[in-house]
Amino acid sequence: MASYDVIIIGAGPGGYVSAIRCAQLGLKTAVVEGRETLGGTCLNVGCIPSKALLHATHLLHEAEHNFAGMGLKGKSPSVDWKQMKSYKEDVISQNTGGIEFLFKKNKVDWIKGWASIPAAGKVQVGDEVHEAKNIVIASGSVPSSLPGVEVDEKVVVTSTGALELPKIPKKMVVIGAGVIGLELGSVYARLGSEVTVVEYMDAVCPGMDKDVQRGFKRILEKQGLNFIMGAAVQGVEASKTKAKVKYQPKKGGDEAIIDADVVLVATGRKPYAEGLGLDALGVNMTERGQIATDAQWRTNVPGIYAIGDVIEGPMLAHKAEDEGMAVAEVIAGKHGHVNYGVIPGVVYTTPEVATVGATEDALKAEGRKVKVGKFMFMGNARAKAVHQAEGGFVKLIADKETDRILGAAIIGPGAGDMIHEICVAMEFGASAEDIALTCHAHPTYSEAVREAALACGDGAIHS
Ligand code: NAI
Repeated sequence: MASYDVIIIGAGPGGYVSAIRCAQLGLKTAVVEGRETLGGTCLNVGCIPSKALLHATHLLHEAEHNFAGMGLKGKSPSVDWKQMKSYKEDVISQNTGGIEFLFKKNKVDWIKGWASIPAAGKVQVGDEVHEAKNIVIASGSVPSSLPGVEVDEKVVVTSTGALELPKIPKKMVVIGAGVIGLELGSVYARLGSEVTVVEYMDAVCPGMDKDVQRGFKRILEKQGLNFIMGAAVQGVEASKTKAKVKYQPKKGGDEAIIDADVVLVATGRKPYAEGLGLDALGVNMTERGQIATDAQWRTNVPGIYAIGDVIEGPMLAHKAEDEGMAVAEVIAGKHGHVNYGVIPGVVYTTPEVATVGATEDALKAEGRKVKVGKFMFMGNARAKAVHQAEGGFVKLIADKETDRILGAAIIGPGAGDMIHEICVAMEFGASAEDIALTCHAHPTYSEAVREAALACGDGAIHS
């Protein structure tokens, strides 16, 4: 048994970042993690491995489609799937190993195993009960199930199984045109699978800016993804090697069936807090099964906090990280703060899609008067040079009277990095004119952000 100032449950991006910050603030800290490696879903079976596969398959796509035109002749590379997966594993282990190193460097203890909380101030792992003045639950989320669909992680898979398929399927059906479905759908489409995405709503990425939804779907269709929109999946019948996906068109009409070698279920994730004993402790939950917290991540039980996917808000690694740092500050008696109005969202397809703040539609629905500056990447020299200008744009939304930036959406090369210029501007309460007056290097993709800002005023130069 050991005594700590803080024990954090879960070593995903929320938990491990929180632990490092707690230690930096002088708190004696431990993290309980039952996986064999640190980093949670994100590093082990989520963000990081999928980005490795997106990178490798993007290069394959470039070789197949753009090399010859750039004067790079010769045979296209062939896919060694086993090697690609081992490259992905290597990327994972470099990152999970990196966190282990950071724990040692910051003197954070890793208690290996699965935690429960027998009482406030106590964390049990196996037969050992540790004492903790503060407990932070950062236990994350798991894929949510769909009625009538049984996941075997072989033929019917979640994102976890999709990263580990023994072979590249000929036909893949993706249920859900959200972030996971489109990222992993892109990976397999580039690897040669015939990919069909079945989506309940009438647009991809529900909740995103409408212009982005339309433009993004068109770009993905050009890349070979097929979409069946407005279709509710009713169930999947699977054998050992094949599956049939049944769906009902929302407009009415007969139930339809599509065949697949692999079905990826990407219909959302749900908070995970099983085995912690929260019921017995009397921890309040929301109607959606999240742990209820106040504005400083305190649950109703004194000394127990919760952050990340297991509480309310977007299920994003960087949102969890921010909460992890902020809760550490709160525990250390400082002022932890997260600005939930400025949390970017990124889809790592090619081109990337990135958004921050409010959408034009949401603002208009609230009765806000806004102006919109839009700049197409077709007017950006750098984007044209890398064959990523078509269909992409930067859209900046500002208050009509004050010119203050309220939101932005980008489809284009490097969108996931470029969005941060707008995030910083929003944090500082900047106007579109502030961005328009800032010198941007030429030739860069970021010039498109400035052009969109100019379009909020007297007009963009290159459109
Ligand atoms: P999601 O919530 O983004 O999308 C799920 C989609 O499935 C929705 O479009 C929904 O309408 C559709 N759907 C639900 N039931 C259906 C049915 N019966 N038939 C047809 N369509 C149906 O969920 P996703 O993609 O699984 O991602 C889970 C979480 O992980 C999200 O919160 C996401 O933000 C996060 N994530 C973020 C990434 C990133 O930031 N790049 C990458 C991967 C995941």
